[in-house]
Amino acid sequence: MTDTANKRFYITTPIYYPSAKLHIGHTYCTTIADTVARFKRRAGYEVRFLTGSDEHGQKIQRAAEAMGITPLEYTTKIVNGFKDLWKALNISNDDFIRTTEKRHEKVVQYLFQKAYDKGDIYKSKYKGWYCTPDETFWTEQKLGPNHTCPDCGRPVEEVEEESYFFKMNKYADQWLKFIDENPDFIQPEARRNEMIQFVKQGLEDLCVSRTSFDWGIKVPFDPKHVVYVWFDALVNYISALNPLEEDKSLFEKFWPADIHLVGKEIVRFHSIIWPIMLMSLDLPIPKKVFGHGWLVVDGTKMSKSLGNVVDPIPLIDMYGSDALRYYLLSEIHLGNDGNFTLPNFVQRVNSDLANDLGNLLNRTVAMVEKYHGGVITAMPSVSEFDKDLASLAMQTVKEYETYMEAFDLNRALKTVWAFISRTNKYIDETMPWVLAKGANEGDAEKLQTVMYHLAEALRIIAVLVDPVIPTGAPKIWEQLGLAGFADAKLDDVRQWGGLPSGTKVVKGDPIYPRFEVPEMIDAPAADSALSEATATSAATEETAQEIPPIKENIEYDDFAKLDLRVAKVISCEKVKKSKKLLKFVLDVGVAERTVVSGISQYYEPESMIGKKVIYLANLAPKKLMGIESSGMILSASDFADHLEVTNIESLIPGSLVK
Ligand code: ME8
Ligand code: MG
Repeated sequence: MTDTANKRFYITTPIYYPSAKLHIGHTYCTTIADTVARFKRRAGYEVRFLTGSDEHGQKIQRAAEAMGITPLEYTTKIVNGFKDLWKALNISNDDFIRTTEKRHEKVVQYLFQKAYDKGDIYKSKYKGWYCTPDETFWTEQKLGPNHTCPDCGRPVEEVEEESYFFKMNKYADQWLKFIDENPDFIQPEARRNEMIQFVKQGLEDLCVSRTSFDWGIKVPFDPKHVVYVWFDALVNYISALNPLEEDKSLFEKFWPADIHLVGKEIVRFHSIIWPIMLMSLDLPIPKKVFGHGWLVVDGTKMSKSLGNVVDPIPLIDMYGSDALRYYLLSEIHLGNDGNFTLPNFVQRVNSDLANDLGNLLNRTVAMVEKYHGGVITAMPSVSEFDKDLASLAMQTVKEYETYMEAFDLNRALKTVWAFISRTNKYIDETMPWVLAKGANEGDAEKLQTVMYHLAEALRIIAVLVDPVIPTGAPKIWEQLGLAGFADAKLDDVRQWGGLPSGTKVVKGDPIYPRFEVPEMIDAPAADSALSEATATSAATEETAQEIPPIKENIEYDDFAKLDLRVAKVISCEKVKKSKKLLKFVLDVGVAERTVVSGISQYYEPESMIGKKVIYLANLAPKKLMGIESSGMILSASDFADHLEVTNIESLIPGSLVK
């Protein structure tokens, strides 16, 4: 018996900062959420799936100022890009909330006032440190070396201003009790333990307003303050449910959320600050915060300033959204970090989507056409092979559901793909091309049985794979000649034999094309053992490149001629009419220098400002696009079009490199 009242499910992604274009790390989070949402819909839940944009704060105000436009103009442009990306990735969100919308602002002000009226917000003075890129306050003791953010390693700024504070400390014990009583609230377990440690070390009251800039939601009772961006942002999960409208049905139906899916670095905000805000506000606490890992490139979190971001749009244009979605979810166990490499991606997509799944469909439809004029006839399981396939199908549905319910997407997919492989093997076992010759009595029926089993297996597979590959899955259903895929439910595939007799297949194009494995691993392909290794290991891939041999020795005196020193980037901008060049002004300790560098395709100019790099100061000046360029900024590049500027943060400009 299913309790339909409880079959509602509210899932959220973080709301993304519109401070830059989104990279595939961001698509990872949204893809997980979308896949879970689609699964829950198939499982019969009424689903609400929310994503959005987190548009306030100092970082965004500064970025807009640098471009000479208003913050809202700035964020609107970027947020439109988010929406296009989610469309391209086939994301099925039910709502998209912008923190600049009135419906959000109202709720933030209402809740801020409510906490204040309760006595949980008080005025004081904040003196401490602030990481602007992360929008996070830090005390002196928690800082990394040389006044850096302990989370992201970037320099923090000293802040001293009158602020409102939220009484976090008051709720520390209540929080610990809550966590004790709700052991599954924070997942995975490692994150939970971290958070408990964090709170046990003592919770400080949280600074929840700022006065040194104004791009934010005004504190209702003191409008020279704006609400701290995290207090503002977290409320999105509630404000999107219109709790203050006359019609409160959304809020009543969907709050508390079933799961907030977030990256591991923001678990702290979601599992400590947010529940405590809700405790203060007497609102129910969400059921789960799940912290997923990062998508890394060569072991480093993708970030614009490192220049190792992978843009999802060209990947989707070239390989399709299903390919990217499938890769992200099948490759990485939720909670762990995952390494992205293009050859590995293409290899996976070719083998799992084009070969295993695509070919199974192609072969099945082609055989049904060839042997039976396209018509499938329902047949019972007779042979061991038939029975085995049917029973594995049913077991697969069960296991898949268990894993999906536990957000173990990667195992759920493995289970389905094992069944797909089993179905391919069934073709080899039953040898329909031999049965088609009709040499033995009963071969004709056997052939019909085989065709029915293949088609029925594919019908079930289509429903199971749809949450992760929602572009291709409906095509499976269509090619089988079935209608109404949008309404198909998990319940429709819990029993073997649902495919009606007389269904007529509709041959179509292959649902997943095969792609050339990118050139960068073509070279060693002659050695097949090596090329197989390059497909699975990023480390091997690097050594498989042609790394030049070490050059002839030089004397120390030759080296000493180079004036290498630390330089700080004062300004950085694109050189007009040039695709590659960036113009830098550097503080080299003893002077300011202008340098033009051909790294525009790797770095956004604004991300370079404030960085300290290694600079060759005595390279003879040269004119580039009419600009006199003195010296050279050092960088390293591999052969896969990755480039990284040398970065040395802890020394002052002018320091010598030797
Ligand atoms: O943190 N791999 O926004 P954000 C996996 N506005 N996930 C990644 C990633 C990577 N390489 N890089 C980023 C914020 N993410 C706040 C959230 S919610 C009330 C406010 C994930 O744009 C990251 O872990 O910096 C986070 O969950 C999400 O992208 C948004 O990051
Ligand atoms: Mg972030």
